[in-house]
Amino acid sequence: MSQEPRKNPEKTTSQEAKPTRPTPPTFLDSTWTWSSPSTWPLTIKLLPVFIAIISIYLAVAFPALFGDPVSRFLADTSCTGAFNYTFQIAAAKRHAEELATHDWEIGTAGEALLELLSPHKAVFGRVPFPRGKVPYDFVKMDEALTFVFEKVRVWDGPTIVEDSYSVSDPASLGVSAVMIGQVWKGWLRAAEAQKEYLLKDAPRYGNGAISHRVEVAELWSDAVHMVPPFLAYYGVATNDLECVREAVRQVELYREVLMLRDGERKELWRHIVGPSEMADDGAWSTGNGWAAYGMARVRATIAGWEKSKEMMEKEIAALDSYMIEIIDGAIRTDDHESGLLRNYLGDSTWFGETAGTALLAAAAYRLGMFMEQNAGRDHILQWADEKRRAVVRHVNDDGVARPAVHSLKHDQRQPFEGINPEGESFLLLMGAAWRDCVCAGVRSREG
Ligand SMILES: *[C@@H]1O[C@H](CO)[C@@H](O)[C@H](O)[C@H]1NC(C)=O
Repeated sequence: MSQEPRKNPEKTTSQEAKPTRPTPPTFLDSTWTWSSPSTWPLTIKLLPVFIAIISIYLAVAFPALFGDPVSRFLADTSCTGAFNYTFQIAAAKRHAEELATHDWEIGTAGEALLELLSPHKAVFGRVPFPRGKVPYDFVKMDEALTFVFEKVRVWDGPTIVEDSYSVSDPASLGVSAVMIGQVWKGWLRAAEAQKEYLLKDAPRYGNGAISHRVEVAELWSDAVHMVPPFLAYYGVATNDLECVREAVRQVELYREVLMLRDGERKELWRHIVGPSEMADDGAWSTGNGWAAYGMARVRATIAGWEKSKEMMEKEIAALDSYMIEIIDGAIRTDDHESGLLRNYLGDSTWFGETAGTALLAAAAYRLGMFMEQNAGRDHILQWADEKRRAVVRHVNDDGVARPAVHSLKHDQRQPFEGINPEGESFLLLMGAAWRDCVCAGVRSREG
């Protein structure tokens, strides 16, 4: 019995007679063209799928490559991007950058640039710590951080930069250092050394407040803007709630010593208490601004991190009440015909000037954003609008605000002839704070 052939040879023959199907072109063939998709080889057709898979992998494995999509998404660039600040803010920004030479001026300019240009990464943004972490971009550093990075060389000492006079001023660079340190580890080490120095080695005032100065234990209201915002931010960055609590404790120790207890200036803060000839019982306008704005940054940092927000409700309320004390005091003593606040609040012998007014207006906007909608909040925000308009009237076409106090001689009876470096940064803080209120729908553009 012969075996049946598996295939009918006739059938095979007839199949061969059919026209052969063209073999699909390969990538290197010249037989396909971009213009007719039906000729594309499989490799080209599947390319989008490969790219999508690789992108998803990169986005998951290295989120920083793409920035943080959540905060990107939440950043309302349509409002902030096209905002009309109603004064020459680009020129003011240039002065703030160019004139910043001292450590605290650079730190303050860095903070101002961050709030102005990268508001979603500043502590006042809606999600300042995406997934509980310090935000960063790997590919492109924010302009604010680039500014600090290029201005400052961190050193190997106990503080971020060398400063033989002030304990607290180098700490004004601390938040920038932590943010830069997400990519450049040397900056993170500098921030860590700074925190260790502040908490373990720095001289302390009798009540435990970290001294503003190296040589003597002396408390300056300025320091509230330099040290507590850094401690709070460092605490979040290192998941250290105790460090965040220490920031609030330092604010309270400063308030205990510096707050005035009676008279018209009640609840405003003295400038300097200590043993040296620098002691200054006056309620320096800029100094009250330093204190109020520093507290606003601490408050926003605490409320911006899930853990501290849950655990520190009492502290948040306390900080709000301390800010209200200062802003109420500024409102009560606001009586100069220019609409600007006097260089020393509640002292009618002093000129009105722009630096302290801009910083206190910025603090009032930030405070207003924290408060529930009520008559008290409206009162504070209306006042902030008035002070902002008064400052804007005193900014010239070159972005210079005058009259301004001499920032290194706060008790000089004549306004500063030059340009006050920190005062130019305060203009940016004020502009950013107002913009954030407008973009959040809390204030109108016309206000
Ligand atoms: C910005 O606002 C000011 C004051 O309201 C106005 O005079 C100016 O024309 C505006 N600028 C732009 C570019 O809209």
